[in-house]
Amino acid sequence: MKISNITKSVLGCAFSLFLTMQGIYGNDTPAFTLIGDFPTIGPLPPVTIPPNNPQTAAKVELGKKLYFDPRLSGNNWISCATCHNPVLGFTDGLPRMLGGPASKEGGRNSPTIINSAYNEFQFWDGRAATLEEQALGPIQNPNEMFETLDNVVKKLSGIPGYVKAFKEVFGTGVTADGIAKAIAAFERTIVFANSPFDRYMLGDENAMSESVKRGMNLFNGKAECIKCHNGTNFTDNKFHNIGVPADGPLKEDLGRYNVTKMEADKGAFKTPTLRNITETGPYMHNGFFPTLFEVVQFYNGGGGRSENKSPDIHGLNLTGQEVNDLIEFMKALTGELVQIKYDAVSLPYPTLPMDF
Ligand code: HEC
Ligand code: HEC
Repeated sequence: MKISNITKSVLGCAFSLFLTMQGIYGNDTPAFTLIGDFPTIGPLPPVTIPPNNPQTAAKVELGKKLYFDPRLSGNNWISCATCHNPVLGFTDGLPRMLGGPASKEGGRNSPTIINSAYNEFQFWDGRAATLEEQALGPIQNPNEMFETLDNVVKKLSGIPGYVKAFKEVFGTGVTADGIAKAIAAFERTIVFANSPFDRYMLGDENAMSESVKRGMNLFNGKAECIKCHNGTNFTDNKFHNIGVPADGPLKEDLGRYNVTKMEADKGAFKTPTLRNITETGPYMHNGFFPTLFEVVQFYNGGGGRSENKSPDIHGLNLTGQEVNDLIEFMKALTGELVQIKYDAVSLPYPTLPMDF
C-alpha cells in the first residue's frame, strides 16, 4: 500500500515534469509554465491610495497643472513633463537626462512614470519610497529643475489660479506639502493596462499571437526573466546587479549601495517594470541599450561583467527565433491609459490659462 502510494507520487511527479518540459520545449503553448515559485504576472490590481492623500478630481487636476508647469524650475523652462513626456512614454527618450540651467547630461536615464503608483521604491536606487516623497526632489535638484521650495511657493502664490485651487483642494495657501500631494495624486492616474497580454490573461484567446505565447513561456521558463520581472507590474521591487556597462559622464555608478552602504548592493539597480517597454527606450539605468533586441542579446550572452553580478544572470542559449519571441512578448505588454482619460496624453504641453 505504502509502496504503491510512493510509486504513484513518483509517477505523478514524472508526469508533471513531462508536462512542464512539453510546455517549455514542446509545440503546445499552455498559458503558463513556471520555473519556480515567483509571484505570477497578470493584470494589475487597482492602485493603492495612501490614507493621508485621498484622491479627488480637483486634486488630480491641480497636480496635472503643476506637472506641466515649467515655473516649478529655476529658469521657468523645465517641467516634470520635460523629462517625463507623455508622447515619449512619460520619459525623455534620451539615454541620460539633460537638466539644470545649462541642460547638462546627468548620469541616469529618466524612467517612465507610467505605473509608478505601483513602485515600492522610487528612483533607480530606491532612495525615495513614495511619490509624495519623490516629487519635491527634482524641483530642488541643481541638475534638474534647480529651484528652491521657498521660491516655488512664492511664485505660485502670486498666481490667482493656484491660490484658488490650493484653497479648494487643501483649504490652505500654496504649500510645498500640497505641491507634492497634488503631483502624486496626478501620477496615480497614469496607469496603463489593457495590453494584449492583459486581455489574453482575462480570457481573450486571440489577443496574443503564437509567437507572443511562445515568448511568454520563454519569459516564465527557459529565459528566466520571471525571476526578477515578476508580479502584476513585472518587477520584484528589488535591486540586482546585472552588469550593465558604465556609460555617460559617470565613471562608476554604485546604485543601491549609495543608499544602503552594503557591499552586496554595489552596482545594483531597481528591477524596472516592463509594461509599455516599447515606448520607454533607451534602456537601463544609464540608457546603455537603444533597443529591446540589444537588451535580450545582452541577457542571452550572460549579462555584463561585474564582480558583484547576480547569480541569476547567466548565458541562456536562446535561438534567434526565441530571442524574437521574447521581444514579441514584451511588445504585447504595451497598454493604454485606463483609469481616467486626461487630455495630458493627447496634449503634452497644455497651455496654462493666464490666471494659472
Ligand atoms: C531634468 C530631467 C527630470 C526632470 C525635470 C524631472 N525628472 Fe523625474 N526623474 C529623472 C531621472 C533622471 C530620474 C531617475 C533618477 C535616479 O534614479 O537617480 C527620475 C525619476 C523619477 C521618478 C521615479 C520613477 C521610478 O520608477 O523610479 C518619478 C516618479 C519622477 N522622476 C517624477 C518626477 C516629477 C513629479 C517631476 C517634477 C516635479 C520630475 N520627475 C522632474 C529626470 C527628471
Ligand atoms: C537577476 C534579476 C533579473 C533578471 C533574471 C532579468 N532582469 Fe531585466 N532587469 C533587471 C534589472 C535590475 C534591470 C535594471 C538594470 C540596470 O539598469 O542596471 C533590468 C532591466 C531590464 C530591461 C530595461 C528596462 C528599462 O526600462 O530600462 C529590460 C527590457 C529587461 N530587463 C528585460 C529582461 C528580460 C527579457 C529578461 C529575461 C531574458 C530579464 N530582464 C531578466 C533584473 C533582471
